[in-house]
Order: sequence, then C-alpha cells, then structure tokens
Amino acid sequence: VSVPVAPRDDVAMMDGYHSPQVDVEVRLNTNESPLPPSPEFVAAVAAAVGDVRWHRYPDRLARALRARLAALHGVDPSQVFVANGSNEVLQTLSLTYAGPGRSVALFEPTYAMHSQIARVTGATVAEGRRGEDLAIDLDEVARVVSSARPAITYLCSPNNPTGIAETPETVRAVLAMVAEVGGLLVVDEAYSQFAPWSALELVADDVPLVVTRTYSKTWSMAAARLGYLLGPSWLVAELDKVVLPYHLDALKQAAGLIALDYVEDMERRVSILTEERGRVDAALRELPCEVWPSAANFILFRPVGVDADAVWQALVDRSVLVRNCSGWPGLSGCLRVTIGTRDEDDRFLTALREVLP
Ligand SMILES: Cc1ncc(COP(=O)(O)O)c(C=O)c1O
Repeated sequence: VSVPVAPRDDVAMMDGYHSPQVDVEVRLNTNESPLPPSPEFVAAVAAAVGDVRWHRYPDRLARALRARLAALHGVDPSQVFVANGSNEVLQTLSLTYAGPGRSVALFEPTYAMHSQIARVTGATVAEGRRGEDLAIDLDEVARVVSSARPAITYLCSPNNPTGIAETPETVRAVLAMVAEVGGLLVVDEAYSQFAPWSALELVADDVPLVVTRTYSKTWSMAAARLGYLLGPSWLVAELDKVVLPYHLDALKQAAGLIALDYVEDMERRVSILTEERGRVDAALRELPCEVWPSAANFILFRPVGVDADAVWQALVDRSVLVRNCSGWPGLSGCLRVTIGTRDEDDRFLTALREVLP
C-alpha cells in the first residue's frame, strides 16, 4: 500500500508559483532578455569549461566573483553575497532573518515570490497595498510596519509587474520606518539598469538595507541562475552560515565573472530595449487599453471592455504568450508584456489589434 506522506500543514495549503510555460513562438511572459549574450561571451564560457577542476568542490565563498562584483559597484567584497538567482538570495535572507514567529512586509501588487518565499520559510506575511495609482503609499507603509514590526520589508524597484521605479525620497522614508522597528529593508532591483536611480548608494555597514540584483534580465543569463546582493558585511556573514555549502557551482562562478567583461554589451541591450519599450508603449496607448508607464523591460496594461482571460487565450492561440496578472491582488483585468525584439513585439501588437474590440 502506498500512502502519500503529509507535507507541513502550511505547505499543504499553498498554491505554489504559477508561470505557465506554454509552447509558443513568441514568449513575452517572464521578462527575460530577448537578446542572447554576445558570441564572445559564449566562447569564453566554453573555454572556461576546460579550466574547471571537475573533481573538486568549487570555491565555497566565490571569492573572485564577489571581488569583481564589489569592484563593479564600489563596495567591499565582504558586502557581496552571491547565489543561484536572486530568488535564492531572497530565500537565504528569509531563512536567516524571517522564518517562524517573524513577519515579512510587502506591498501588493508586487513580485509574487516575495510572499511565496516568506511563507515557504515559515514567516507570516504582513500584506500592505499600493495606492490607487499602484505607487507606494507611505501612510500604508507606516501602518503595516508599525503594526507588524516586520523582520523584513520588501520594496521592488522597478516593481514587477507595475514597472514603477521608487524615488530616492520614498526609499529613504521606508528605510527610516523599517530601521525604527529594528527590521531589514530589501530593495529588489532585478530591473535596476532600466531605472534612473538605484538604492545602491544607500548601502553601508551601519544601514539595515540590502539591494538584490540578478544576471537573469539585463545580463541575458536567465539560464545560468545567478544573482547577488549588496549589503552590510555583518549581514553577509550571517547569510554565509545559512546557505548550503558549495551552493554555487564552479562553471557558474566562471560565467558570472566572464559576463562582467562585457558591461558595454549589457548597456547596449538596455538602451535597445528601452527604445523598443517606448515604441510598444506608444502603440498600446493607441489601443483601447489602460497603460502604466514603465521603468523596466515590461509593460502592464489593462484591455478595456474585454475580458483579460479571453484576451490572454486569444493571444496564445496566435502563438504569443504574455503574463496574465488579472488574478493578482489589485490587478483585475491586467496583462503584462515583456519587451521583446522588434519582430516579436510586432507579432504581439498585431495579435492584440486583432483581438481587441
Ligand atoms: C522583481 C524580481 N525579482 C527577482 C526575480 C528572480 O530573478 P532570478 O532569476 O535572479 O531568480 C524576478 C524574475 O522575474 C523578478 O521579477
């Protein structure tokens, strides 16, 4: 007889993370870069495969990679933590600073993994709401932070899925409230290279703030699963105790280092996508859609007068996949489209014109 073994009660209640990977020709649903990294990068990684000492564990602290990232951002190597995607960075933060008996504050609608990771690590989610315009409302932050006294408070800038980048004033104001209750502010900057300002300039050993970054978007390396954070060295030392030993394989460490030789390529991709975003934004505004201005590589929009689920399906039927956000808190009727290549975006816009009334 085979009986299913019961998971933790709270895990049994969870939905899990849903981002359907449908087989289509035009994938504009996960905010990846539509442009691959340069052939020179790929050749350098291929050469690095031969240098890996495959029979040995990798450098546990990824010292070379941390040192290069520290130099890139003008911080000390002891202020850098690296993991398998920024999701693992966030998970390690939550395991270290949140967990059972502690709470994690966030302001919906925002990146779904912030609440998912909090719950998986056993923390309570203190859910605040963004304002009518989907911007951070400081009164709401004050209400949530003073009542929940969260161990971790999340901001996401630019925010997924709204595209809004927070101002320095907002981040500083939230940081002051969080510090007041002895908490940690995590600013998720997965899309930071598209934004006018970064919270990185606030990172220091006497400030309870971390900034998380990823190789998955602007670095065109989603397949590699690599992300990092910049924050106080005392915090990084705690994370190093919690993360699994040798979590970052040797080839990934090498690829992360090699990528940093191609900063200009990355910046060129960002400017191509920013220009393309302007074109898609303008085209969407000519259609019966409500459109939110974006400081990232995606655009949130709400088709007017039609059911969003039906629009999503009709786009899939035309082999175009976007993200259906209509079930997310505060986003009924909304879809999110990642900026692709010009051809991909034209496929999306043509399909959308056919589908909308
Ligand atoms: C805001 C935000 N943070 C983190 C991630 C995850 O990034 P990674 O691939 O580094 O785990 C994403 C991916 O979509 C994201 O949108």
